[in-house]
Amino acid sequence: KKPVYILGIESSCDDTSASVICDAKVLSNVVANQEVHSKYGGVVPELASRAHQQNIVPVVQQALEQANVTKEQLAGIAFTKGPGLMGSLLVGTSFAKSLALGLQIPLLDVNHMQAHILAHFIKDDESKIPTFPFICLTISGGHTQIVKVINHFEMEILGETIDDAVGEAFDKSAKILGLPYPGGPFIDKYAKLGNPKAYKFTKPKVGDLDFSFSGLKTGILYFIQKQQRINPNFVEENLNDICASIQFTIIEILMNKLKNAVKKTGIKQIAIAGGVSANSEIRNRLQLAEKHFGWKTYIPKFEYTTDNAAMIAITGYLKFLNNDFANADVTAKARLKV
Ligand code: KG4
Ligand code: ZN
Repeated sequence: KKPVYILGIESSCDDTSASVICDAKVLSNVVANQEVHSKYGGVVPELASRAHQQNIVPVVQQALEQANVTKEQLAGIAFTKGPGLMGSLLVGTSFAKSLALGLQIPLLDVNHMQAHILAHFIKDDESKIPTFPFICLTISGGHTQIVKVINHFEMEILGETIDDAVGEAFDKSAKILGLPYPGGPFIDKYAKLGNPKAYKFTKPKVGDLDFSFSGLKTGILYFIQKQQRINPNFVEENLNDICASIQFTIIEILMNKLKNAVKKTGIKQIAIAGGVSANSEIRNRLQLAEKHFGWKTYIPKFEYTTDNAAMIAITGYLKFLNNDFANADVTAKARLKV
């Protein structure tokens, strides 16, 4: 059988990424982060689309070079259709459409949220591939969902956030503490040295499988303001304990929801996906759940947690095998359900 080479392109938010895969194996996965946003404490959409425009050609060239694959060898081009920032999505969409047209090869439109989940189907030496059905907790800067994955393309949202995403809870808490953006990885880093039970924050009350994080953020803000009035150096002196306590509260919320999902569905195969699945504590807790609750858990490789094009390419590859191609008039969609 002839090997199938797919180029994946991701540009939904602030990372420009391109990846070449051969069948389900990743040959390259180039990610250009956009530094411009850090000084604004969040992604500035107008600057993001401009940076994608600058990055996309060199990033794709680099992905092909690293994979040692020529454009002519490609069987199809996969791109992120949505959800995401419209101006960002349009750059990847237009580029992918033009390239596919030029090369006369199929175009594959990919749902970013499905792709986070389908990253689990990338084959490498140590990867465990999930069997259906499984539950996936998709946790990123833009989304928080519990999804029942029936097969590669049939997915059912069992619960989701009614306000902020869990990544936002990390990033907004970090901002309150004066940490750089995105703050999730910093909270993770300082939490390793702190006491997770040092401070208590109240958990939100929402439906069984739904999430809410805006109240937690406000609770943290008021707590910090109050402590700073008593001791202006409170954050500095207790940063590790504060981070550990915030992280512990968030991970408790996530784990409790997963337990509810297992109870409700009877499915004990649990995967995590999305940028926040890079968090070391959620990874530990999920691993422990194999022993404690008899779950079978799937934790993505670090490089496939945050936004990347390898997950777009694998999704495109699975669609390619299904002969599920996009039409020439396909457009980006800022809002798109799994
Ligand atoms: O999936 P992603 O790269 O982009 C979106 O689609 O949103 O997720 C980015 C989010 C950010 O909120 C970032 O702070 C968070 O993932 N994140 C983390 C960690 N690494 C990235 N949050 C907690 N701990 C981490 N180690
Ligand atoms: Zn994402």
